[in-house]
Amino acid sequence: MGIQLVPWIFLIPLYIEISVVWGSCLGDQQSLLLQLKNKLTIDPDPETSTKLVQWNENLDCCNWAGVTCKEGRVTGLDLSQEFITGGIGNSSSLFSLQFLQKLNLAYNLFNSEIPIGLSKLTNLEYLNLSNAGFMGQIPMEIFQLTRLVTLEISTFSLNRPLKLEHPNLSMLVQNLTEIKELYLDGVSISASGNEWCPAISSLSNLRVLSMSRCNLSGPFDPSLARLKFLSVIGLDHNNFNFCDTVPDFFANFSNLTILSLSACGLTGIFPKAIFQIQSLSVLDISSNQDLHGFLPDFPQNGSLQTLVLHYTNFSGQLPDSISNLRQLSELGLSNCQFNGSLPNSISNLTELVSLDLSYNEFTGQIPWFGESKKLKYIDLSHNDLNGAIPSGNLEGLLNLIQIDFQHNSLSGSIPSSLFALPSLQKIQLSYNQFDGQLSEFSNVSSSAVDTLDLSGNKLEGPIPVFIFELRRLSLLQLSSNKFNGTIDQHKIWKLQNLTTLDLSYNNLSFNPSVANENDLSSFPNLHSLYLASCNLGAFPYFLRNQSMLRYLDLSINQIHGKIPSWISKFRFLSNLNLSYNSLTNWEGPLGNLSPYLVVLDLHSNQLQGPSPIFPPFIIYLDYSSNNFSSVLPHDIGNYLSFTVFLSLSRNNFSGNIPESICNAPSLKVLDLSYNNFSGTIPRCITTMSAFLGVLNLRENKLIGYIPDTFPAACHLQTLDLHGNHLGGSVPLSLSNCTALEVLDLGENQIIDTFPCPLKKISTLCVLVLRKNNFQGPIECPVINSAWEMLQIFDLAFNNFTGKLPGKSLKNWDAMMPNEYESQPMLSHIQFEVIKYAQVNYQDAVTVTSKGLQRNLVKILRVFTLVDYSSNQFEGPIPEELMHFRALCVLNLSHNILSGHIPSSMGNLKQLESLDLSRNNFEGKFHQSWQV
Ligand SMILES: *[C@@H]1O[C@H](CO)[C@@H](O)[C@H](O)[C@H]1NC(C)=O
Ligand SMILES: *[C@@H]1O[C@H](CO)[C@@H](O)[C@H](O)[C@H]1NC(C)=O
Ligand SMILES: *[C@@H]1O[C@H](CO)[C@@H](O)[C@H](O)[C@H]1NC(C)=O
Ligand SMILES: *[C@@H]1O[C@H](CO)[C@@H](O)[C@H](O)[C@H]1NC(C)=O
Ligand SMILES: *[C@@H]1O[C@H](CO)[C@@H](O)[C@H](O)[C@H]1NC(C)=O
Ligand SMILES: *[C@@H]1O[C@H](CO)[C@@H](O)[C@H](O)[C@H]1NC(C)=O
Repeated sequence: MGIQLVPWIFLIPLYIEISVVWGSCLGDQQSLLLQLKNKLTIDPDPETSTKLVQWNENLDCCNWAGVTCKEGRVTGLDLSQEFITGGIGNSSSLFSLQFLQKLNLAYNLFNSEIPIGLSKLTNLEYLNLSNAGFMGQIPMEIFQLTRLVTLEISTFSLNRPLKLEHPNLSMLVQNLTEIKELYLDGVSISASGNEWCPAISSLSNLRVLSMSRCNLSGPFDPSLARLKFLSVIGLDHNNFNFCDTVPDFFANFSNLTILSLSACGLTGIFPKAIFQIQSLSVLDISSNQDLHGFLPDFPQNGSLQTLVLHYTNFSGQLPDSISNLRQLSELGLSNCQFNGSLPNSISNLTELVSLDLSYNEFTGQIPWFGESKKLKYIDLSHNDLNGAIPSGNLEGLLNLIQIDFQHNSLSGSIPSSLFALPSLQKIQLSYNQFDGQLSEFSNVSSSAVDTLDLSGNKLEGPIPVFIFELRRLSLLQLSSNKFNGTIDQHKIWKLQNLTTLDLSYNNLSFNPSVANENDLSSFPNLHSLYLASCNLGAFPYFLRNQSMLRYLDLSINQIHGKIPSWISKFRFLSNLNLSYNSLTNWEGPLGNLSPYLVVLDLHSNQLQGPSPIFPPFIIYLDYSSNNFSSVLPHDIGNYLSFTVFLSLSRNNFSGNIPESICNAPSLKVLDLSYNNFSGTIPRCITTMSAFLGVLNLRENKLIGYIPDTFPAACHLQTLDLHGNHLGGSVPLSLSNCTALEVLDLGENQIIDTFPCPLKKISTLCVLVLRKNNFQGPIECPVINSAWEMLQIFDLAFNNFTGKLPGKSLKNWDAMMPNEYESQPMLSHIQFEVIKYAQVNYQDAVTVTSKGLQRNLVKILRVFTLVDYSSNQFEGPIPEELMHFRALCVLNLSHNILSGHIPSSMGNLKQLESLDLSRNNFEGKFHQSWQV
């Protein structure tokens, strides 16, 4: 009969029926799930829940998303990432799902304590409550879930912390003896090594120990060695300061795959044997600054995929055998002490994705990465590498996204084929020795490059056209090279996505401004524009359409005329540098600049007229070397609340120095030199020396006394009052200024004896008292300190008397460099600079030599001068003076010195100028003096 055919027809439905019988949801299970769903509160945004929204009464509940069944009973429930905000109270129907073995509530927004009802789910083997918004103590009731194999209660929340303190970890491990995987990251456990280690080591099945950020401390207890089958150890961001180092027995965990101990305060030497664990694939011990170590010889076929040692004290070389790590994809050794050359065997790391060797002392040439076709990031910046980038087969680096070789000593030319790498986004090769021309390159329209930084090299010739066709460019920095040629402003238009453009310090010029307003385009995202020293004759016309600019540097150009009013359209401008131009005035109303302006540098222009602008939040303000001629606003202090640097030097400002200037609590440099200020020095200005580093009132018309108000905590480094009409004496409190380097009181009317208290100031480099009314001997009572740094000592044109004291000259070490030092000092010109807020302040001191006044705008380290001339010194030339081998200028003229001129004068080999005239010396000029 047809029976034979029947099976085909009936077997199929039969099969389905059987599966329905076995798989279909039991009624009570379905209603429990529905009750659960109805009680849950879910973030109303419909896109957030993906599982619960699909639960549909008309379908078998065993087919609902997130539900797993066995024999119609719900054994697994995954409600992770459902944006559940509440609805699981202790009476929730969830806890009636008796057969549950797996429960996952991770990544929700419960914002409550962990419900103790969970203890009813006694069949649970897997429980995941990580980052579910639970907070507070982990309840004791959880510990009744004695079948748990995996427990995950990690959290990243700082404002809703979880704790395992009372009850504590020991109580947890007493009951949960089956645990294989324990994730408690971020839970506050706050235990020391002899508490948490024995507790953990009683979990004899443990495979995964993940307890980063648990406030654990050391020492590691030997009991941990029992956990032979540990596969994962994650203990990052704890504080093992008390423990010597990573224990040797970690190397015996022969099944270890992940060891992560970053930022643990580890010290000592990292055991080499750990690198040899065959199964290890991830090793991260970064950010342990006092952890020392060396890389071992890596065994054949090592399984390391991630090796991260950033910010440790690892040193030594990168071994050849690194290439045995065939699976290595991330090698991160930045900010360590590695040295030596990079082994060529690196070329064999074909799986490498990320290579960061920055901030080490690697030397030698860059290996070839052409076979590392998966490379995305190379960072070799801040080393001492040299040679060129190997160009051959760069084409192989199809996945390279970022190449960062900044601050090395790379030389040679930059291979243009770099720009052909299809994935490359960031090219950072700044501050190397690359030279030659960048050759043209065609067809870059599909290039992904968004960052190109070639600044600080020796590249020459025109900027190749293709660079302006890298349409994705957001950052283009070519400054401080030798690029030449003319840039057509239209070319730049193609770079619509520019945020930063820096073409400063080349030999470039720009084509003349285009007058046609219709040509005006703009860069909608440009916030930083640096065109210093670009031979601009005018403001670039495209500027007037920029509204997002924050940083604008057009210094050192030949821009004439007025500062245009449209600068006030830059509402976010914070740094404006127009120094070294020929600007004469502001166009339009003043004071309408961006409220965010913090750096304004207009020095060395021809700005004139009424009072300059003092923006309210200014930090750095330089109006020096202009033609301003007003008086200062009496409330100037109101504008200086944040000011660190203020220079009005070399203008024609007049009137009094307003007292309100002292209301500048952050001021470090105050330079009002070379103006026509009159009146007295406000007493409060010297009081400001508690934080002021430079006070320069040189060459004004100030009268009265120097206020005796230098505070006990005086931080002044430069005090320059030269060329005023100040009388009185040197204030006693000035000797509070124990960091003083430059003191110039020359050309005033001070009546005093030699200021012996200043002998306390061992940092003094320059002391100028010339042309005052000082009198009496210059010998001081014994003071236990010396002017070791003194290099300019000028007492000329006073009424000093007595002998030149030899003893006090003995310790002027700067005048007597040892033989070894003296040569290099002469060949290296160094400036005395004081660094404030990334700004250099250069001291100016006038000295007189060969009858001519010289303005040593920068005091050269090598310049040394002793001038005792035009006083009434008597007696012999002290022998000690003849030891000043570095002395450049010695003037003893117009005194009543006597005796023989020492024959050892020939020691003074650096003398440029010697004047002994108008004294009472006897004897003859010695042959050996003629150098
Ligand atoms: C440990 O489990 C037992 C039952 O197995 C239970 O009686 C006891 O209360 C649990 N201890 C804790 C601390 O929960
Ligand atoms: C440890 O590793 C070995 C070799 O990979 C494996 O056979 C063994 O099952 C692992 N042991 C445990 C307990 O995971
Ligand atoms: C790369 O590996 C091959 C095969 O093991 C070897 O012959 C070659 O010398 C290695 N290259 C380098 C540069 O170490
Ligand atoms: C630009 O520099 C190149 C190479 O340094 C030189 O040959 C060329 O004459 C220069 N061009 C201009 C316009 O100065
Ligand atoms: C410019 O930037 C925007 C936003 O970052 C981006 O969507 C767009 O693709 C970029 N254009 C180009 C040509 O890279
Ligand atoms: C500061 O100078 C005043 C005035 O000379 C003096 O009384 C005080 O002792 C000095 N303080 C210190 C710390 O030298």
